Amino acid sequence: MTTNKQHLIEAARTVMQNAHAPYSSYHVGAAVLADDGNTYVGTNVENASYPEGWCAETSAIAAMIAAGAKQITEVCVVTKSDPPGTPCGGCRQRLSEFAAADTPVHVSNLDGISHTWRMDELLPSAFKLKD
Ligand code: THU
Repeated sequence: MTTNKQHLIEAARTVMQNAHAPYSSYHVGAAVLADDGNTYVGTNVENASYPEGWCAETSAIAAMIAAGAKQITEVCVVTKSDPPGTPCGGCRQRLSEFAAADTPVHVSNLDGISHTWRMDELLPSAFKLKD
């Protein structure tokens, strides 16, 4: 396992504990490594008005952008499910905005089961205005 992957799994697993998911009870933690060398984390944030909630990946991207970083070099999403949950379609598009085609996207669960894809495997033929 690469050092980055281990570190990102730990970061995502830790932040998952802060998920606000009282409606689905589906807790998600996301960690993105940026080209500034920092790791940005986020959880899903649900709302009593269900469609107003958002995903863990979206929170992590928002933290990265707020800090001034622009490029994602590696991603990890942690859930408790088996198999581990994969980024939803909307989050694939959001991650793709800041990631390269070959950016690794890891998913993992608490049993240590993990899979890794390239960004372009999760979102082939991604829509981008620039490349
Ligand atoms: N969720 C994420 O945080 N990321 C995804 O990629 C898929 C779904 C969240 C949204 C909602 O709070 C819960 O998981 C159940 O759908």
